[in-house]
Amino acid sequence: DPELVAKGEKVFKKCKACHQVGEDAKNKTGPILNGIVGHAAGAVDGFKYSKPMKAAAEDGLVWSDAELAAFLTKPKKYMKGTKMSFSGLKKEKDIDAVLAYLKSYAD
Ligand code: HEM
Repeated sequence: DPELVAKGEKVFKKCKACHQVGEDAKNKTGPILNGIVGHAAGAVDGFKYSKPMKAAAEDGLVWSDAELAAFLTKPKKYMKGTKMSFSGLKKEKDIDAVLAYLKSYAD
């Protein structure tokens, strides 16, 4: 749905302070998010994750739509001790949109 992707691009402005996507994306405060939907958590090369994110990765966390929705709603509630300092997205529609946008960036 191209309209949802376009909406997601706007929502992603909230993420851009810390995350990049696209061909020339680099790790910044947060890891590169190309291909993140459906991908194992805590697995971007060269990014230094928090302890709880490393532990979740070892436990096999995969960023399904449902896990991402829960994380993005309230990052610090979903994962105590995460170093993602973001208050969260309150609207389900914004989460749907940002996930559609992220899906448009494969690995
Ligand atoms: C981690 C998405 C906003 C900083 C992550 C991860 C995702 C994500 C999916 C897990 C990556 C992985 O497992 O490799 C988003 C989205 C945002 C957003 C969609 C906007 C809606 C932000 C903001 C910041 C930030 C604003 C900085 C203030 C980080 C950091 C991590 C992270 C530092 C690593 C967390 C840890 O190791 O505990 N983000 N993020 N993010 N994000 Fe964000």
